[in-house]
Amino acid sequence: MTNPAPSNAPATDAFWMPFTANRRFKAGPRLLVSASGMFYRSHDDREILDGTAGLWTVNAGHGRQEIVDAVARQMATLDYAPTFQMGHPIAFEFAERLASIAPDGFDRVFFTNSGSESVETALKIALGYHYARGDHRRTRLIGRERGYHGTNFGGISVGGIVTNRRVFGPGLPGVDHLPHTHGLAENVFAQGQPPQGAHLAKELDRIAALHGPETIAAVIVEPVAGSTGVLIPPVGYLEELRAACDRIGCLLIFDEVITGYGRLGQAFATQALGVRPDLICTAKGINNGALPMGAVFARREVHDAYMTGPESMIELFHGYTCSGHPAACAAGLATMDIMEREGLMTRAAEIGPYWQKRLHELKGAPHVIDIRNLGLIGGIELSPRDGVVGARGYDVFIKAYEAGALIRVTGDIIALSPPLIIEESHIDRLVDTIGEALHAVD
Ligand SMILES: Cc1ncc(COP(=O)(O)O)c(C=O)c1O
Repeated sequence: MTNPAPSNAPATDAFWMPFTANRRFKAGPRLLVSASGMFYRSHDDREILDGTAGLWTVNAGHGRQEIVDAVARQMATLDYAPTFQMGHPIAFEFAERLASIAPDGFDRVFFTNSGSESVETALKIALGYHYARGDHRRTRLIGRERGYHGTNFGGISVGGIVTNRRVFGPGLPGVDHLPHTHGLAENVFAQGQPPQGAHLAKELDRIAALHGPETIAAVIVEPVAGSTGVLIPPVGYLEELRAACDRIGCLLIFDEVITGYGRLGQAFATQALGVRPDLICTAKGINNGALPMGAVFARREVHDAYMTGPESMIELFHGYTCSGHPAACAAGLATMDIMEREGLMTRAAEIGPYWQKRLHELKGAPHVIDIRNLGLIGGIELSPRDGVVGARGYDVFIKAYEAGALIRVTGDIIALSPPLIIEESHIDRLVDTIGEALHAVD
């Protein structure tokens, strides 16, 4: 079930593609060659409705001229400058701008180049925070089953996806995992936050008792998990988790790589869901996916714990050559201008009810066993074919693509996260196309 290899396709051998079945893809490549607004254009000159904002990245829609111009201007002015013991104005300007949209108190920003790097950075900041305060025992990190925190060693260790770490050795020591919150029968076809599951956060007390609460440095979770199939936090769950972290005395890290920058109707899930972590990991939507970039937001107290030794000392031995890259910052500032002017940070809250209504109309379509949503996120879970997990999901993905919609599937779960500029007519088209694709596969 693949497209024929396009005659205008480049040679595909050299690019070892990430998270891709390379041989199958290269037998029938699907190439996106341009993009504007809500749409990609494919190599065979078809309009493809973007149901995934690229990869949860292009929140302000494609081909924004303002971002193009800002990047070009910045590249012509200052293409690159280091941020180790040196600085350049736009990195400071962008950090201040980000701090101004962050929840109160999160006014210290560390720049990275990806979500994975934001996760590594946050884990290290958490460990170093306790060390800086003289508490050298707190070295354990707690993640969650079905969590995705990128692909570096820290992230795959606290993450809860076995395929992402099976062949890569033991990973970080001293890691444990909370149970995931998915699959409770009471929550099937829940609209918005599911009603059942807050009690699962109390498992943190059990894990802490097992290892000794004084050894736990931090807990990391995605407020909404995307990569393992759109898992929405049950009502009260994140609040319980916050309370448990306070009891234990450890930090709480929210990995907002997919929820940051407007996905849930406010700038961050932290604000939309009303639960305050200590560190927030972001990337993707930070500059509309225009250039690689991420940022970790730290609560002022976490940052200030580092600012104690001699002033001549480097406080945090961590960073990247391209931390605060000038062009990535320029793209970010232009993105924030657009998001602010067009009200995109809160757009998901406005169009969310229509999104929810249309999405749940797919209840009863072939193979659908659950539908879930929050903000401008949607998940449609399909029953797997006997013994072949993911096969049906892949076929739906291909059928939808052939019919002109880009969706994402993780196993047999369709994960939707369209650009925040989406209109009701696009939602209709996306839902209708998915409905047709579901009817077209066995
Ligand atoms: C929650 C979460 N954390 C981290 C990452 C990793 O981001 P990146 O692929 O930019 O390294 C992702 C990517 O999808 C993500 O969804």
